[in-house]
Amino acid sequence: MRYFYPAEQQALFTDRERELAELEYRRDQLHQGRQEHTSLFGLRRIGKTLLLKELVRRTLTQSQSEESDETEEGEVDTPASEIVPVYMDFSHICTSPETFATGYVGWVCYWYLTRGQASPVSYLDIASLTGEVMLAGNREVAGTVRRLAEALRTARPDRPGILRLAFEFPEELAQLAGCKFMLIFDEFQEIETLTNFQDSQNVIALFRAAMQTQSQVLYILAGSAITAMTKLIADHRSPLFVHFSQMPITPFAPRDTAALAAKLLGGELAEDVAQAIHRLTGGHPFYVTTLSERLRRLVETGGWALNADAVQCAFIIETLSSAGRIYSFCRYVYDLSLQKARGYGSLKATLQVLATEEGLTSSQVARALRVTPGSARDYLKWLRDVDLVVERERAYFFQDPVMRYWVAHATRGIEVSLTASAEDLADLVAGLGQYFPTTTERI
Ligand SMILES: Nc1ncnc2c1ncn2[C@@H]1O[C@H](COP(=O)(O)OP(=O)(O)OP(=O)(O)O)[C@@H](O)[C@H]1O
Ligand SMILES: [Mg+2]
Repeated sequence: MRYFYPAEQQALFTDRERELAELEYRRDQLHQGRQEHTSLFGLRRIGKTLLLKELVRRTLTQSQSEESDETEEGEVDTPASEIVPVYMDFSHICTSPETFATGYVGWVCYWYLTRGQASPVSYLDIASLTGEVMLAGNREVAGTVRRLAEALRTARPDRPGILRLAFEFPEELAQLAGCKFMLIFDEFQEIETLTNFQDSQNVIALFRAAMQTQSQVLYILAGSAITAMTKLIADHRSPLFVHFSQMPITPFAPRDTAALAAKLLGGELAEDVAQAIHRLTGGHPFYVTTLSERLRRLVETGGWALNADAVQCAFIIETLSSAGRIYSFCRYVYDLSLQKARGYGSLKATLQVLATEEGLTSSQVARALRVTPGSARDYLKWLRDVDLVVERERAYFFQDPVMRYWVAHATRGIEVSLTASAEDLADLVAGLGQYFPTTTERI
């Protein structure tokens, strides 16, 4: 798994027991012929991909141990057919219908033939995929790969045809090989890109048509853009409605935040240190990771004591210094989200207003921006569509308090140095309470 899920990542993996138990249950239900397809939703960097990698690891480990049970005891009563995990990231393959069909078939071949034990590079273009499949001498996959290669050789490939071929491939292979598949599509919302191409506008309907007739394949989808995924999966107008149950991926509970931070800081943490980390990160595992790593550096190389004050300073440095990873992440999400939405300038101004004071209604935002209530409602809707803002009882809030903190400071030119001292940061430390109320929640 070193190409897919390196040992260091495995060692840091924390929690998600409930989600894994749920997904493993659904996977094992496939043996009984029950398919409960699932889609995972969650903020960016909340840990969807890592959770899926862990699921793949556990699935492969389980089938290996079942195999060795069989050889030890010589015979087992009708072994359940193996469930082969197939992971693919749609953001890499959704560049055109042809690349998509090739990547889709290529990833299924890769996981089927190697179980993730080799480099996948040669499985992702049609020439080297053909070579790889010939080398493996595997008749079950050879037919599809040959048909795909033939279809792609024509000047204008039949796009619905190659998409259908790709979507039908896992079930065909499962039937031929006597196994089952758990297909995992990360960044599933990227499939929308394909609807912009001629003759592949109905790609989602083609996917649904194929999956509806399949009995040996379980689908697990994940995506970062929550609103886009919700539209694809849960909107009653979408052809995927009713086929997928939804599983939200949420931040860590305080105990799990403490467990991850302890791994990264090299030992058990004092209660107030763990509490400070949870309060500032909200249990978002990416923030917990970057904050803990910064803290470790301050302690090991900057001579800081490992206490709650150092946690606050490390958070500010990580979020407001342009070399910090939380800073870069917020900048990236902010730029990308606003590019997707129209009216860049007005949206920035709306975010500034909410960064200063949350929980405003659309008319209050309109007054603050001196625009009509209709315009304010439009801006807020766009910001909701790109997942920056949420609405609760007609009041608007940032989806993510760390992003709010970053907007309130970084977009107003407040930046700190990587080597700032506790003294330099005193004012900012005093201001943290406005954005991150203290809690007495115990770890
Ligand atoms: N269960 C976990 N245990 C330990 N660390 C985690 C866990 N989940 C997430 N992380 C940390 O957060 C980072 C982001 O996680 P991941 O890439 O899985 O998020 P994602 O939801 O797939 O993000 P994106 O929306 O950008 O695809 C990881 O690289 C890791 O550092
Ligand atoms: Mg991901």
